Amino acid sequence: MTMLKVQNLKGGYGGRLIVDGVDLEVEAGEIVTVIGQNGAGKSTILKSIFNLAPVREGEVLLDGKDIFKVSPYRMLVTGLAYIPQHHSIFPKLTITENLRMGGYLLDDAKLLQERIVKVCEMFPILRERRDEFAASLSGGEQRMLEIARTLIMDPKVVMLDEPSIGLAPKMVDLVFATARRLAEDGKGILMVEQNVKKALLASDRGYVLELGQVRIQDQAQALIADERVSRLYMGVRG
Ligand SMILES: Nc1ncnc2c1ncn2[C@@H]1O[C@H](COP(=O)(O)OP(=O)(O)O)[C@@H](O)[C@H]1O
Ligand SMILES: [Mg+2]
Repeated sequence: MTMLKVQNLKGGYGGRLIVDGVDLEVEAGEIVTVIGQNGAGKSTILKSIFNLAPVREGEVLLDGKDIFKVSPYRMLVTGLAYIPQHHSIFPKLTITENLRMGGYLLDDAKLLQERIVKVCEMFPILRERRDEFAASLSGGEQRMLEIARTLIMDPKVVMLDEPSIGLAPKMVDLVFATARRLAEDGKGILMVEQNVKKALLASDRGYVLELGQVRIQDQAQALIADERVSRLYMGVRG
């Protein structure tokens, strides 16, 4: 079942078009990754989907529902989550308080409490340290908290901008393994990544973005084997 369908997406800043007519889809239970060089427009795709780019047009359907003109807050309520490239935790709040912030759009206090308990079961490290400041977590643990926080809204699709950036290899593996757990739970995952090899190994399908347009799309395994992808994005010389 298609959870996220994006058609002819365009987006940019102040008259400069960065994303130039992108089509992409994410199914329930699937991890899809957009790869591309620095500046290709990967982050702008996610911002354009999430109604954060000043210039945008196109079509965005979440579980069949047109959400293109919906505000980012309503998108969260509708079931689309977005974790930006730069850390977005609240360092001076505790882990529990950060999780509560993830549910500030829920008006049912009992449901919020249930969701926090459920998320803490999934991430034991967060439960153990729930009363500590988020700033005390390692970089990888902070990424887990960001992911956990989006789960409070029980999203259908989670978009992650460079979830592996700046993390030690072990934490990178843990973040990708977490993405897989969410997919197994039926969520659709859309990532953008510069860590091409590891991200594709963790994904089902991928899109190669160049200058704001999709150049290649295929199963992740096929992209890993694709000579153009290895030459341009995995540092392998042809
Ligand atoms: N807020 C902004 N204002 C103006 N230009 C921007 C802004 N953010 C990104 N850009 C430009 O858009 C292009 C694509 O950026 P981005 O989507 O961040 O690429 P990627 O995530 O693939 O590295 C770059 O040329 C960048 O300089
Ligand atoms: Mg980026």
